[in-house]
Amino acid sequence: MDIRKDFPILLQKNRNKPLVYLDSAATSLTPSIVSESEIKYYNEFGGSVHRSVYELGEKATNAYENSRKNLAKFIGANTSEIIFTKSATESINLVAESWGKDNLKKGDVVLLTDMEHHSNIIPWQMICKKTGSKIHYLKSKKDGTLSLKEYEDALKKNVKIVSITHASNVFGTINPVDEMINLAHKRDIKVLVDACQSAPHMKIDVKKMECDFLAFSGHKMFGPTGVGVLFGKEEILEKMDPYQTGGGIIETVTMESSTWTHVPYRFEPGSPMAAQAIALSDAIDYLSKCFQNDDDLGEYSIEKMKCINGINIYGNPKVKTPIVSFNIDGVHSLDLAYFLDYEGITIRSGHHCCQPLMSALNISSCARASFYFYNNKEEVDFLVDKINKAVKVLK
Ligand SMILES: Cc1ncc(COP(=O)(O)O)c(C=O)c1O
Repeated sequence: MDIRKDFPILLQKNRNKPLVYLDSAATSLTPSIVSESEIKYYNEFGGSVHRSVYELGEKATNAYENSRKNLAKFIGANTSEIIFTKSATESINLVAESWGKDNLKKGDVVLLTDMEHHSNIIPWQMICKKTGSKIHYLKSKKDGTLSLKEYEDALKKNVKIVSITHASNVFGTINPVDEMINLAHKRDIKVLVDACQSAPHMKIDVKKMECDFLAFSGHKMFGPTGVGVLFGKEEILEKMDPYQTGGGIIETVTMESSTWTHVPYRFEPGSPMAAQAIALSDAIDYLSKCFQNDDDLGEYSIEKMKCINGINIYGNPKVKTPIVSFNIDGVHSLDLAYFLDYEGITIRSGHHCCQPLMSALNISSCARASFYFYNNKEEVDFLVDKINKAVKVLK
């Protein structure tokens, strides 16, 4: 399936070289069906969501709520279990703060892994500071996977919640979350799954997975910026206080105090990001079609890239998303990224918001090429060719 024609940015005529976009793990390109959907909101029904009885407002509210229904269907949730946030980062902060304040106390443990993104570390550091609980990190193995045995042992340490990435944004590892959730639930431990890097690549079913919370961002899966999703089991969400407060989340407000409305609205204070949430619905429809046509560029890229002289590829998991993180002896990843940009190739360099993992790997940074449905094998070959050229020039 040739989907490249759907991405205006890949068709730009005013560039002096073709764009080889290999940074989709940071943010994916946007198909025109999604940008047009966002424009449609502004051009056709720009009224305020949940607050108006006039026709434009009704249209906007219906489109917003239909998007919620579609997202629920997309991950196998109930509609009331879908909360629109501004990002996965906000989704995780919501759980850490709102669930954590009433469920964590001195001596309790939050179990993370060393491959978590900062967005799944810092919110827990903050709530641990407030509640006197602490974080335990499960260390990844050399091949970028986790030991289930070590995980099972770690669960015995007074753990109250496990917050774990489904897929690592550095190794690409897809963690065995179903088993991990099952093991945690046997001990009555809650599990949050950070699906930022998995939802863009695979079908997720929260009912089968049985996670308690799941977070992802729209902009990594063809969607607009500024919108994320938090799934939470209704019976857990109903017991949680709002994370932020303001209009739209209340039942009653007096001069002294307020009471909260039911979920999911309790967690969506203020005027929502209607255009983005509506366009996200079109993004997941588009993505669902792509799921049926995935050719494994990840495997192809590893095969090709491991032949580059002096390359160290981090992690070597068998089950992974199409991400290759690497360093080349004698070449700084930043210099490589600059060099490749000159050739029209965008890769990421730095710590990838995973400083604890960088320190576990004993590096300060690395380069990362990440592939998505619009990439192809010619681009991988082009990348390898230009890296080889870079090595000659920069070494
Ligand atoms: C695994 C993972 N978790 C969380 C995030 C944070 O996502 P966002 O910046 O969209 O909130 C990212 C972003 O790169 C990620 O890769």
